[in-house]
Amino acid sequence: MSRRRWLLAFCFVVLVTAALPLLGRALLWHWESNPVLRGHRLAQEQGCESCHRPFGGKEIENPGSRWGSIPSFQSGNALMYLRDEQELEEILRLGLPKSWSETADVRQRHAEQRLRMPAYGERLSDAQIDDLVALVQAEEAFGLPEEDPTATTGRALARRLGCPSCHGAEGAGGHPNPGSLGGFIPGFLGRNFVDLVRNREEFFEWVRTGTSRRLEGNPVVQFFWARQAISMPAYGDSLTEDELQSLYMWTQSARNNFGASATLRTSR
Ligand code: HEC
Ligand code: HEC
Repeated sequence: MSRRRWLLAFCFVVLVTAALPLLGRALLWHWESNPVLRGHRLAQEQGCESCHRPFGGKEIENPGSRWGSIPSFQSGNALMYLRDEQELEEILRLGLPKSWSETADVRQRHAEQRLRMPAYGERLSDAQIDDLVALVQAEEAFGLPEEDPTATTGRALARRLGCPSCHGAEGAGGHPNPGSLGGFIPGFLGRNFVDLVRNREEFFEWVRTGTSRRLEGNPVVQFFWARQAISMPAYGDSLTEDELQSLYMWTQSARNNFGASATLRTSR
């Protein structure tokens, strides 16, 4: 081979080596994808969080409106405003459910209140509206199909312990984690979960010890575990067997509703 060819081959190898981590990250991100995570990104892009304070944030005053403030998510507020999933879609598309415009005094109150929900129908595609519906359903646990009561207990426990604040609403994942393998905290809905948590026993192990013996031996994993900013806390013996089981059932219910083979909406 000529010198030039050697040089080209050398450059090619360097480029591929440099691109590998980027490709790896892109792949992990792709595997994480789910409607709630897409909805969350979209909500950030569309400025929803300027008005709707995130979990725990103090609600912004909204004089003249029905409850006097802009509802915050993860507080079960959807139930106070919306009858069903249809109305949820309507408020996202039109800024208010159709039933509100049917009554004269509600119409007038809505017209006079200080802040109003924007109509996103013209701005977003049907698929994007679907993702926002999924986000609100996950944040608010609104309009979810009937599930094992253990899963409902698990959701409430998870919220008290802060699992969704790191792992996203219903385990949507994707919150930033500098220095970690994928650059984000994995959730429970995407394909990464299946690789990281093979069964109930491994789930229990993660929550008890904050780690996984199966993955500990892998040098790549070791490398990133030592560098990542946020690690999974070890809950040790502070959780009972029943509590761990309820958390596990919650992740299974979330996967049924929002995972790859979700049953919640046919268009997803
Ligand atoms: C300009 C402020 C504003 C922005 C931006 C905004 N909203 Fe709203 N939203 C409101 C107000 C105000 C209400 C309460 C309804 C009313 O009083 O008219 C509301 C109500 C809602 C409700 C029903 C109540 C609940 O808590 O479930 C949902 C769902 C909702 N908004 C989702 C969104 C989403 C998703 C976005 C971004 C795509 C968004 N909103 C952006 C002001 C806003
Ligand atoms: C402070 C943030 C934080 C909190 C709170 C937290 N986790 Fe984690 N969790 C992580 C991080 C970061 C990882 C990634 C672990 C790794 O790769 O080292 C993780 C990993 C996991 C995993 C395995 C990987 C996967 O697919 O997600 C499970 C299961 C899990 N956590 C469940 C829970 C449960 C259940 C709770 C609540 C009891 C919880 N976590 C609370 C940060 C957190």
